[in-house]
Amino acid sequence: MTHTIIIKPSEHVLKTVEGETLLQAALREGISLPYGCRNGSCGICKGKILEGDVDYGCYNEETLTEEDKQNGMALFCCAEPKSDLVVECHEISAIKDIEIKTLPARVEKLERIASDVMIVSLKLPANQRLQFLAGQYIDILLKEGKRRSFSLANAPHDDEVLQLHVRNYPGGLFTEYVFTQMKIKEIIRLEGPLGSFFLRDTSPDMPIIFLASGTGFAPIKSILEHVFHMEGSGDNTNNLPPMTLYWGVRTRADLYLLDLIDQWQQQHKNFSFVPVLSDALPEDNWKGRKGLIHEVVLEDYATLENHQVYACGSPVMVKAAYQDFTTLRNLPKDGFFSDVFTPSVNNTP
Ligand SMILES: Cc1cc2nc3c(=O)[nH]c(=O)nc-3n(C[C@H](O)[C@H](O)[C@H](O)COP(=O)(O)OP(=O)(O)OC[C@H]3O[C@@H](n4cnc5c(N)ncnc54)[C@H](O)[C@@H]3O)c2cc1C
Ligand code: FES
Repeated sequence: MTHTIIIKPSEHVLKTVEGETLLQAALREGISLPYGCRNGSCGICKGKILEGDVDYGCYNEETLTEEDKQNGMALFCCAEPKSDLVVECHEISAIKDIEIKTLPARVEKLERIASDVMIVSLKLPANQRLQFLAGQYIDILLKEGKRRSFSLANAPHDDEVLQLHVRNYPGGLFTEYVFTQMKIKEIIRLEGPLGSFFLRDTSPDMPIIFLASGTGFAPIKSILEHVFHMEGSGDNTNNLPPMTLYWGVRTRADLYLLDLIDQWQQQHKNFSFVPVLSDALPEDNWKGRKGLIHEVVLEDYATLENHQVYACGSPVMVKAAYQDFTTLRNLPKDGFFSDVFTPSVNNTP
């Protein structure tokens, strides 16, 4: 049975087909709603049901609470319409015209850059390009309809080879395969670009804080390389806001591509880098910052009133950062953007 959905405030109208979530229907009809994990974990797709009934689907109860539901909220990646609906949700025009493609790709290079991180370089067929916004991700398509999400770590201008930073999750269907069996020249299939994590409008007087935990560095690398590319060689940095990257990992050995980050610091006077170790080992001889990255940011900033924050990586870090920055440091709620690296096991096609 089909249902008609009216989206406020845009007044866009779409039809859903049986068994489809609100997000699936919107994406199929080319309407760009905000989303991240697509499995009810990150909360980025949360919107309001103004009229009508939905089946809330299968979701994480911390992400959509009973109170949220009483206030009319639903996760659009899980909610299936049970009647015609009027919903409220902000559409994202920047990703509207970007085509989501399914493409084959050849594994070009595998570099084990840290003990549990592999940089996977993927080459598309000669006549194909993947248009994307810095910060977006792709899905690797596996057998039996399974898919796994990975952020693109290269910037859009540097799209000869797509770069992924893959962490080895113990028991992980795809990541263990990458670390133990994947071969150069192997062909995989991917779908993308996906997601709504990308740099919004910036202003020289609105400093940006990038917060990465572990391989959450990947999309932030893409965004920074895009920004640096747009600003030219680095001499013309007057229009850039101050940008600080806080990168949290467990031990010194978990930090990688430090030469590249060092180069960014040398070339771009508005960029600074704060590595943070949560479990520094005695042999690390670490003199830098220790603890949880969002707490280090709280120590460094008395207010985040006129800031933008881009956080990416573990759900715990992203949630704590959002909570503490908006309540303790007055970060505007619409100044916080995130991509949460949740397990992809329940992702729906
Ligand atoms: C939008 C998005 C972008 C992502 N980008 C990246 C990226 O750039 N780099 C990257 O390394 N990861 C990224 N992830 C996370 C990655 O997609 C998942 O970790 C994925 O499930 C790994 O697939 P797998 O087949 O190896 O493990 P699965 O077979 O899916 O899981 C195996 C076991 O490991 C656990 N597990 C898997 N992933 C996680 C996790 N993230 N945290 C805690 N436990 C986990 C599962 O619960 C399960 O028990 C991203 C996730 C999302 C939603
Ligand atoms: S909870 Fe819906 S996209 Fe993450």
